[in-house]
Amino acid sequence: MCGIVGYVGKPPVVGTVLDALSRLEYRGYDSAGIAVFNGRGIEVRKRVGKLKELIASLNTQPLEGQAAVGHTRWATHGEPSERNAHPHLDCRGELALVHNGIVENYAELKARLLGQGHRFRSQTDTEVIAHLVEEHAKRLPLAEAFRSALKELRGSYALCLIAKRDPTHLHGARAGSPLIVGLGRGEAFLASDVPAVLARTRRVIYLNEQEVVELSTSGVKLTTLNGTPVARKPSTVSWDLSAAQKEGYDHFMLKEIFEQPSAVERTLYNRLDAAKGQIAFDHRTRAFLSRLSSREKFVIIACGTAYHAGLVGGYMLEELAKIPVDVDLASEFRYRAPMLDRDTTVIAITQSGETADTLAGVRLAKEQGAKVLAICNVMGSSIPREADAVLYTHAGPEIAVASTKAYTSQLTVLYLLTLSLAKRRGLVKPARLRELLTTLGRLPRLIERSLAAEPAIKRIARRYARARNFYYLGRRYNFPSALEGALKLKEICPRIHAEGYAAGEMKHGPISLIRNGWPVVFLATDSTVYEKVVSNIEEVRARKGECLLIASEGNRAIRRHADALITVPKTEELFSPILIAAPLQLLAYHIARLNGCDIDQPPNLAKSVTVE
Ligand code: F6R
Repeated sequence: MCGIVGYVGKPPVVGTVLDALSRLEYRGYDSAGIAVFNGRGIEVRKRVGKLKELIASLNTQPLEGQAAVGHTRWATHGEPSERNAHPHLDCRGELALVHNGIVENYAELKARLLGQGHRFRSQTDTEVIAHLVEEHAKRLPLAEAFRSALKELRGSYALCLIAKRDPTHLHGARAGSPLIVGLGRGEAFLASDVPAVLARTRRVIYLNEQEVVELSTSGVKLTTLNGTPVARKPSTVSWDLSAAQKEGYDHFMLKEIFEQPSAVERTLYNRLDAAKGQIAFDHRTRAFLSRLSSREKFVIIACGTAYHAGLVGGYMLEELAKIPVDVDLASEFRYRAPMLDRDTTVIAITQSGETADTLAGVRLAKEQGAKVLAICNVMGSSIPREADAVLYTHAGPEIAVASTKAYTSQLTVLYLLTLSLAKRRGLVKPARLRELLTTLGRLPRLIERSLAAEPAIKRIARRYARARNFYYLGRRYNFPSALEGALKLKEICPRIHAEGYAAGEMKHGPISLIRNGWPVVFLATDSTVYEKVVSNIEEVRARKGECLLIASEGNRAIRRHADALITVPKTEELFSPILIAAPLQLLAYHIARLNGCDIDQPPNLAKSVTVE
């Protein structure tokens, strides 16, 4: 949460920082600010609201300089206001700092600094860092003062600092929040995430935990908190700028929904040979899987949409690979007393690789002797680095706050993992495996056919856009789809209350709410539980609910149960969630659009939840 950028290089410095910030706005957008060293001193501009407010202000009254730090905020300590927006300054306004994370011991540090005569202007935890560096810099060179200040912090941070005393350098550090270095020609960046720098460079260095960096146009100095030098070569990222741009779509979310066939295709690429019945993983993952014991138990941990992918994974791993699986919300897992041992593999699913609860779950698992396998979209992020093995999804950068292509790519990896384990354990006959792998290989084309339902979905969205309550119901593999469909709608359309439920649970309470015209989205594709779902549909219809059905192509009989119908390609039950995903996303998207919602940046949300 919160996006940070630092830049040293050529003019226009401010324009470059704003452009980079615009690609990080998904991380928070309740206020934004920039601090620029103008050759004489540091000037700051901040605005409440989205980045466009700051840009408008800078258009009317420009700032320019040689180095700058910028920030787009998702408030933790202190309401969204100009006072609380970053960058924050020391007492003399000679150093400026942006921060992503939480300083847990800020109250005690603040009390001490106040006692030492420092004057605070904001209610934030971040401002203490600026004063702390100022205090240490009374005795030490800036780089050392910065490191000494960092040693006093508890909590999480990605930081970037510029100072009048050393205006040609950016000083950065990370602990618990992501930070990358971008190396361009005659310019250098610090940023929360790769998309920020893609317009200028694909050469990046990922900072590890507790690392500090000093950066100028002529070089990078990476050290530990103690100042011990760290050698690390830059990596070249494969994402290109188009991946971080809307490319003619009205919203990133829509673009990312339509990117799903290619995201799934990339995730399968080089891993699947259906004709030979083979699944290939990298060497480290193969070695990891070969170490699993016959008593192995899986615990899948994740948050939000990734948790829903995990729930689908739980069904398939138990059914096909016969491995016992618990699926847990990472925020619960980390605070219960899970029974883990050497025969447990914790599978952490995460798009960003930075979600605080999932990361804490990974650490807990390792402390207790369990193995960790990460399923992640962002290379070099924290969770894959701490895991014993990683299966990357190759969805490309996901910018919209609502996760779409990351979800279907996570499902794709779970299919690969499940079928690979089923094969290793001799639980699937070769002919059946080839059949399943052939369908897996066809998923990109099948998802294209699901996407072709968009015109029908738009019509349905128009019909129900004014409803204020929705249920989403499904069973078995599509119970998680119901949760995910409801999450998509409530997330991007805050005026609507949407709830996902197991269809079989309706009678145990929620059905009492159904009234005339209440829309209920039923996931009614062909499956082992199809008839049960049809009974649930009839129960809702009997109470005058409106049934919006997602069913398999060719199922004519279902029409008489439907007030509205969307069809998806007929497939094996385990693959139905991935084909149902796009229509659910499109339904949420079009309803939100008709309600005038801010689709890519819904209020109160941020994409990467790096705080608890
Ligand atoms: C929903 C959404 C969130 C994330 C959740 C986990 O559309 O985007 O629910 O799925 O915050 O994030 P990651 O996958 O980055 O760990």
